[in-house]
Amino acid sequence: MAAINLNINGKKQTLDIDPKTPVLWVLRDHLNLVGTKFGCGMAQCGACTIHVDGNATRSCILPVSSVENKEIVTIEGLSEDGDHPVQKAWLEHDVAQCGYCQAGQIMSAAALLKSKPTPSDDEIENAMNGNICRCATYLRIKAAIKTAANA
Ligand code: FES
Ligand code: FES
Repeated sequence: MAAINLNINGKKQTLDIDPKTPVLWVLRDHLNLVGTKFGCGMAQCGACTIHVDGNATRSCILPVSSVENKEIVTIEGLSEDGDHPVQKAWLEHDVAQCGYCQAGQIMSAAALLKSKPTPSDDEIENAMNGNICRCATYLRIKAAIKTAANA
């Protein structure tokens, strides 16, 4: 165990925890931030995507020691009232089906638009192709990203 300093959704806190614990389980089991989902546990599906210093990052294979003092944002911290442009566009296009993958999709999309405010089709596909949706909502995801980009 070790004392790890974390900055999650703007809140600084210190946890006494095994430094190898994946960030996903720190969020879900220790901090009750359960919007970030477990899919594959192998960085293959994108369900667990969060932002680390603004970059879309898979939290399921990320040891908590590696994010000490970095700025972590989860779906709960993306906006105060669900009014981030990506979240608004998601509602407008009624993107979600079962919903399981959607927090990860939204976090990837938000990181993309932060680095490239008006992405091309190829840039959208490249940024999003690691986020799997078993309900195949891909066309609506792409449309929503374009709407958010124009917002
Ligand atoms: S659960 Fe992390 S990428 Fe699938
Ligand atoms: S909405 Fe069901 S897995 Fe994506």
